[in-house]
Amino acid sequence: MIHIRCETLLDYTAIAEVNTLAFGQENEAKLIEKIRYSDRYISELSLVAEVENVVAAHILFSYIDLVGEETLQVLGLAPLAVHPQFQRQGIGSALIKAGLEIAELKKESIVIVLGHPHFYTRFGFQSSVVYEIESPFPVPEEFFMVKALQNYQKQYKGKVVYPDSFDEV
Ligand SMILES: CC(C)(COP(=O)(O)OP(=O)(O)OC[C@H]1O[C@@H](n2cnc3c(N)ncnc32)[C@H](O)[C@@H]1OP(=O)(O)O)[C@@H](O)C(=O)NCCC(=O)NCCS
Repeated sequence: MIHIRCETLLDYTAIAEVNTLAFGQENEAKLIEKIRYSDRYISELSLVAEVENVVAAHILFSYIDLVGEETLQVLGLAPLAVHPQFQRQGIGSALIKAGLEIAELKKESIVIVLGHPHFYTRFGFQSSVVYEIESPFPVPEEFFMVKALQNYQKQYKGKVVYPDSFDEV
């Protein structure tokens, strides 16, 4: 049984550990810390999944910029990490679904992710080109994806700009 809830201060160490183990480097754990102390952090959208009271996985959605005719704040999904011992058991999927539900409740418009299409298309993510949304770096177009939420409107197009926190990831 997994239990999904918002992070608390007491989870910070476990979240860093899960990210470091899942990615095999500390960059994502550091990214989370930078975002937490920035104005892009959304406390309701930093979620942990617990298995028997142990943090097994973490997901973070935070605000990034979409620069078109105007600059709009949209959600970026990053990072998502499942402890290696708990991978391929549906936990990553459960965290994505839980996060998307909260994003809908918050009346957000779109979510951007850089990730594997085999995984993310099952949650309704599509290549960003479908939405005329451009990646800030060269990446095969199927890997840079957008999920339109119920509040999506056509003005959500342009080029994504990540905050400085993302520079070292
Ligand atoms: C990728 C990751 C978040 C998926 O979470 P998970 O709980 O293991 O995944 P779920 O059990 O919910 O879903 C299984 C799907 O995840 C994907 N997946 C899992 N591990 C994967 C891996 N090492 N490489 C690529 N895809 C992977 C597959 O698409 C798999 O689907 P399939 O069984 O049909 O092949 C998790 O494995 C992880 O933390 N990996 C290391 C960190 C990472 O790469 N994060 C990327 C986030 S963009």
